[in-house]
Amino acid sequence: MSLLELPSAAPRPLAGRVILLSGAHGGLGAEAAKACAAAGATLVLLGRRLPKLNRVYDAVAQCGPEPVLYPLDLEGAGPDDYAELVDRLEAELGRLDGVLHCAAEFRGLTPLEHLDPAAFARAIHVNLTAPWWLVQACLPLLKQAPDASVVLAVDDPARVGAAYWGGYGVAQHGLHALVGMLAAELAATAVRVAGLQPGPMRTPLRARAYADDVGEDLRDPEAYAGACVTLLSPAGAAWRGSVWGASAGNAGQ
Ligand SMILES: NC(=O)c1ccc[n+]([C@@H]2O[C@H](COP(=O)([O-])OP(=O)(O)OC[C@H]3O[C@@H](n4cnc5c(N)ncnc54)[C@H](OP(=O)(O)O)[C@@H]3O)[C@@H](O)[C@H]2O)c1
Repeated sequence: MSLLELPSAAPRPLAGRVILLSGAHGGLGAEAAKACAAAGATLVLLGRRLPKLNRVYDAVAQCGPEPVLYPLDLEGAGPDDYAELVDRLEAELGRLDGVLHCAAEFRGLTPLEHLDPAAFARAIHVNLTAPWWLVQACLPLLKQAPDASVVLAVDDPARVGAAYWGGYGVAQHGLHALVGMLAAELAATAVRVAGLQPGPMRTPLRARAYADDVGEDLRDPEAYAGACVTLLSPAGAAWRGSVWGASAGNAGQ
């Protein structure tokens, strides 16, 4: 079975699970939300724009269990906000089985030398510090689940380690390190950690780097929704501590 397709052998591999999804109204996030709901998950949809979040809510509700909306801007949120999120999630849903982090901010290619210092700090904060604060706050509740999964969407380190990717590129290298480090520290627990590195996708983020994007490997984000489901499901154990990559031959597995 290809990971790029929705699993067919186990049609509802996320049945009964509660999944927190950041970047829920983004390109990948919205497609992952629908696929996870169709696989049986109750989604907590985290995003910073309520009208867009409402549209994803409607689409997700058509696919599976009624989701929960959680408007939050990662730029301004601090550890107390994430603690409150987890408290409310526990009070309303009673459990948390997975976190899928798809939020990311990229404002365009800029030489480091000319990058506004505040823009660099914001990029590191939104793309690295904030996701870690979010996951850190969720760990106590995740540890109560019998099979929990943390999945961080990451970009290609070779591409975003090249010139002009600025704070976004540096933060992506940090996220890759975080996957391995956290997975090792949680090796003796029921919380799995993995990265998901999609190939190039037609999304607003990508459009900020490439004006005329016609690459052969460019795909709609829907192509990677099945991989999100798999990594969050028990089958994701195969990628514990590693990064699932679209270019690493996974499509045939
Ligand atoms: N697109 C690609 O080619 C590609 C390739 C490899 C990896 N990835 C990774 O895939 C993931 C999803 O990216 P995408 O392509 O789907 O990008 P996208 O369509 O731009 O989605 C990113 C989402 O993150 C949200 N976000 C940004 N800043 C936020 C903040 N401060 N607080 C809360 N939410 C915030 C955005 O909200 P707004 O809508 O309000 O901006 C948007 O909904 C990212 O981790 C990215 O690094 C993408």
